Amino acid sequence: MRDSPLSNFIEVLALKKLVSMTRNEDLFTIREMTIEDYNSVLRVWKEAGIDIGLSDTKPEIKRMIDHNPGLCLVMEDKEAGEIIGAVLGGFDGRRGWVHHLAVLPKHQRKGLGKKIMDELEKRFKAMNVVKIKLEVVQGNQGVIDFYEKLGWDLRDELITMSKTLRKQNRAKGA
Ligand SMILES: CC(C)(COP(=O)(O)OP(=O)(O)OC[C@H]1O[C@@H](n2cnc3c(N)ncnc32)[C@H](O)[C@@H]1OP(=O)(O)O)[C@@H](O)C(=O)NCCC(=O)NCCS
Repeated sequence: MRDSPLSNFIEVLALKKLVSMTRNEDLFTIREMTIEDYNSVLRVWKEAGIDIGLSDTKPEIKRMIDHNPGLCLVMEDKEAGEIIGAVLGGFDGRRGWVHHLAVLPKHQRKGLGKKIMDELEKRFKAMNVVKIKLEVVQGNQGVIDFYEKLGWDLRDELITMSKTLRKQNRAKGA
């Protein structure tokens, strides 16, 4: 098969992937999110189809960032000067939690989601966190496939329960 049209084709594909990964290294950088990034991150979430809820208002996101130093991250396209990806990481004292990972649709499937998650995972490991968790909406198979590729296990023996404690925005300053 060596030097066959098929092997040459596979080599070209592998080379293309390598070139694009190297390009990504140069173009897309990850840094910690600040509250000044809020509008840009909201745009990424909305364009990526994330459901925006009461916990995603500016004061709530500020509280998340303040509570979890170094765990809320954005990815920037240096050339375009725009935020193209984001994730919120949180530590509850036992588990690490991952919320709202998103990459702008025009930049998906370039290895950038994995790059953001690798960085967040590195940071959780540096904090000696035993296990990290996340929730995916039932039927969002693409995202499940993505996380399985990154080594996450589907825990279909577990279900999630929640209880809403507040239905309105907090009063100003609260
Ligand atoms: C989930 C998401 C962040 C993935 O980002 P991405 O940059 O497109 O993913 P990557 O390019 O880094 O993919 C990493 C691996 O997962 C695979 N993958 C990514 N999306 C996939 C999909 N929809 N179906 C199957 N595999 C997928 C890639 O093929 C790649 O595998 P490879 O290394 O073998 O080539 C992105 O699809 C997204 O923003 N989705 C919408 C928002 C969302 O639903 N977020 C999850 C909230 S729980």
